[in-house]
Amino acid sequence: MAHDRDRVDPERLRVILAIETTCDDTCAAVVTDQGEIRSNVISSQGVHDRYGGVVPEIASRHHLELIGDVVDDALARADVALPAVDLVAVTIGPGLVAALLVGAATAKGLAAAYELPLAGVDHLHGHVAAAFLGPDPFEPPFLSLIASGGHTLLARVTDHGPGYEVLGQTLDDAAGEAFDKGARLLGLGYPGGPALERLAADGDPDAFSFPTGQRMGGLDFSFAGLKTALLYRVRDLGEAEASRRRADLAASYQRAIVESLAIRTERALRDTGLERLSIGGGVAANGAVRSRMSALGAELHVPPRELCTDNAAMIASAARFVEGVPYPGYLGLDVYATGERILVAT
Ligand code: KG4
Ligand code: ZN
Repeated sequence: MAHDRDRVDPERLRVILAIETTCDDTCAAVVTDQGEIRSNVISSQGVHDRYGGVVPEIASRHHLELIGDVVDDALARADVALPAVDLVAVTIGPGLVAALLVGAATAKGLAAAYELPLAGVDHLHGHVAAAFLGPDPFEPPFLSLIASGGHTLLARVTDHGPGYEVLGQTLDDAAGEAFDKGARLLGLGYPGGPALERLAADGDPDAFSFPTGQRMGGLDFSFAGLKTALLYRVRDLGEAEASRRRADLAASYQRAIVESLAIRTERALRDTGLERLSIGGGVAANGAVRSRMSALGAELHVPPRELCTDNAAMIASAARFVEGVPYPGYLGLDVYATGERILVAT
């Protein structure tokens, strides 16, 4: 069956349409196989604030309402028609299953309509692969710190993936979760990271001392104790004083998260001998994290903020290094909630 795509210039760049619905952002992007971003559409749902966190079924229902328009918008902004797409890519995990299923079903439907190949991408591979996007791609080898709402890990990146060697990861909460939970304790909305960062800008990071787990050896992270320390500190201060000193509490708490990330990252650079560092995930959008990482002495790559938080351009970037499944082999493709299927733990 001949499609329009069979008649286009074979010399033109391959075009990837990617879809990302891991959590509460509905995203679609068009990226060339050279890593040029033609469009990157992100629709943040903004409806989870009142619940203090993401409610999976509500996220899923909103993805369903938004995904059609988000994909159309991504194609229109890139000035690409669906039949001219060469590969459809979609995040298949880890994440909220009900949310992932919307993206996967949409991607399968779009790909199948024109018998296009489809690539299932791991969300964490996507965060790492944000570094490979143009116009100035950061090439392996490097150390990658991914700090998001669901994950915090250090990986040795020696090629474009999809497999990476995990050097350390969180034993409990993720760094983004620590921001979100701390923000909630300080009466801020969800997502807490950006709100806490704004409040911290007016505070003194030395005002209070919070644990960074410095004495815990190795490269694993732990943030659960930090959140509890903030809870006790707020209680000890009493409501009025805690409220008066909210900015100091936010700044000191943020400092502890940043230090906790920096201590392990510095150790990993030393242990591996790697001299180049890339950071990604939503927490890498934080200004204090960015400036602290730039002081570690490694050559630092920080993607623009919209490529740190969840987006589909990073999924397209990763898809360039994942084998696409030809039609109709992907119709039974499943999603997964947890587990590093792609990342190789050591
Ligand atoms: O990567 P991401 O968008 O989604 C996940 O894969 O989880 O990360 C979201 C997390 C949330 O916990 C959010 O509070 C945090 O990243 N975050 C930030 C900032 N922007 C987003 N944390 C600290 N400072 C920020 N500016
Ligand atoms: Zn993410």
